[in-house]
Amino acid sequence: MKHALIKAATLAPMLAGALLAGTSPVLAKTAYDGVWLFDDTPPTPGVTMMQITSKGGKIAGSVTTKWYGPVEMMNPHIEGGVLKFEARNLNDRDHPTRSWSVAIEDGHAHLKGRIWESEVDSTGRPGTAKDAKARAFQFTALPAMGTPIPSKLAATPPMGWSSWNKFAEHIDDKTVRAMADAMVSSGLRDAGYIYINIDDGWQGERDAKGVLQPNAKFPDMKALTAYVHSKGLKIGIYSSQGPKTCAGYIGSYGHVKQDADTYADWGFDYLKYDLCSGEWFYADADTVKRSYYEMGKALQEAGKRTGRDILFSLCEYGRFDVGSWGRDVGGQLWRTTGDITDDYPTMAKIGFDKNGNPAWAGPHGWNDPDMLEIGNGGMSADEYRTHMSLWAMSAAPLMMGHDLREMSAETLAMLTNRRVIAVDQDALGVQGKAVRKAGTMEVWSKPLADGRVALALFNRGDAPAPLALAPADAGLAAIDSVEDVWSGARSAALPAGYQVPARGVVMVVVHGAEAS
Ligand code: GLA
Repeated sequence: MKHALIKAATLAPMLAGALLAGTSPVLAKTAYDGVWLFDDTPPTPGVTMMQITSKGGKIAGSVTTKWYGPVEMMNPHIEGGVLKFEARNLNDRDHPTRSWSVAIEDGHAHLKGRIWESEVDSTGRPGTAKDAKARAFQFTALPAMGTPIPSKLAATPPMGWSSWNKFAEHIDDKTVRAMADAMVSSGLRDAGYIYINIDDGWQGERDAKGVLQPNAKFPDMKALTAYVHSKGLKIGIYSSQGPKTCAGYIGSYGHVKQDADTYADWGFDYLKYDLCSGEWFYADADTVKRSYYEMGKALQEAGKRTGRDILFSLCEYGRFDVGSWGRDVGGQLWRTTGDITDDYPTMAKIGFDKNGNPAWAGPHGWNDPDMLEIGNGGMSADEYRTHMSLWAMSAAPLMMGHDLREMSAETLAMLTNRRVIAVDQDALGVQGKAVRKAGTMEVWSKPLADGRVALALFNRGDAPAPLALAPADAGLAAIDSVEDVWSGARSAALPAGYQVPARGVVMVVVHGAEAS
């Protein structure tokens, strides 16, 4: 009895399905089926093609983009005469997927959707299977993780200049040379700033063999690196492991070894490798690590071949606890945050709270809270002094980001203060940290190689505030010498208290007896 009931219940829908067979529109090909070609769509994400097939009433499809390759249609279905689907989104925890739609209008496909910050609202024309083949995205496999890549580079945090904060993609050969000149004439080189780094925006197209060429703003990379080297400086370049860099230039996807060889042949000493568009392909710890390893290994091999070591700067915003594996993939520095901007709240958020786990920092491997904004004009002198002090206390890379040709005496003095640089560059390589917090005040401590201790009193508030330092802040029983980092003034004892300017800092290096 029971069995008969079950049979009857399952039979009914089957029969209904059979009766509808042949007549139901869901079993026919839909109007959406086929290849749709998109020309001249907005560069991000750069939709080139849409492919849709339906079989037995089941629709499947993908939207091919220049940034992310094919974006699969999830749960595609027809609703109210429109094809609707979900697509995986990225970099947005609140929206792991986004809703997209396709409407057929006058024989064309109108595609609408959004992926991360890019809106898609474009119309595609019908294409053929041959077109689809020509526009198909070429996937490349990621090699397995190999043995850790040892490094002798960057015994202290790298120092230099990068084009991004001031010039963004508006950078060219002439400006890079001018920065090298200014680095020398200003005395910055002799203060320790060695790298001149070209960030995003130098890339042109790949040639027939796949070798990436610079764009017209960089007519001769070999001559440029030779010029920078002739000034007693080193020079850096930038890429990303995705098909596109963050500013939309050609990335190293599918050409990792070839690009590493190109940089080495041109004479570069440094690569900043950004995750942009790669985060679509490499979305978990394992693949992100392997994608950095792939380039780290390629740079090491290329450097061995040319005899010029290439420093490897990881830029993936601190994902997957990068400090715990950054060295293994050949990195000497790794970004711990999103991008800095030239304002106190952003700088302070990064410098105080997102400068990376101190456990991972040390000789040959540094947490990188991003480049300096000093000299760009968005912060007061006290705020910039806080910026410089925080980075020095954090043993952070010191990559300037302003126009070296136009800098006030105050900016230059701040960047070349030899005492603050010495704290940053201290051979012990310990990343300092907050040892005491009181209201808006933070006391940071950083032990130095000569047994002294750097202490910084930060006032994060908007009004000047008093605070006294105690030997215990430096882990000492007593203090017998105090050197003010910013003024150079020396004394034998700590004063009764300090008045710390709003959003400002007092920084000292103390010596004394250790607690027994
Ligand atoms: C990302 C990085 C920046 C810069 C830009 C270039 O945003 O975090 O430092 O390199 O890309 O496009």
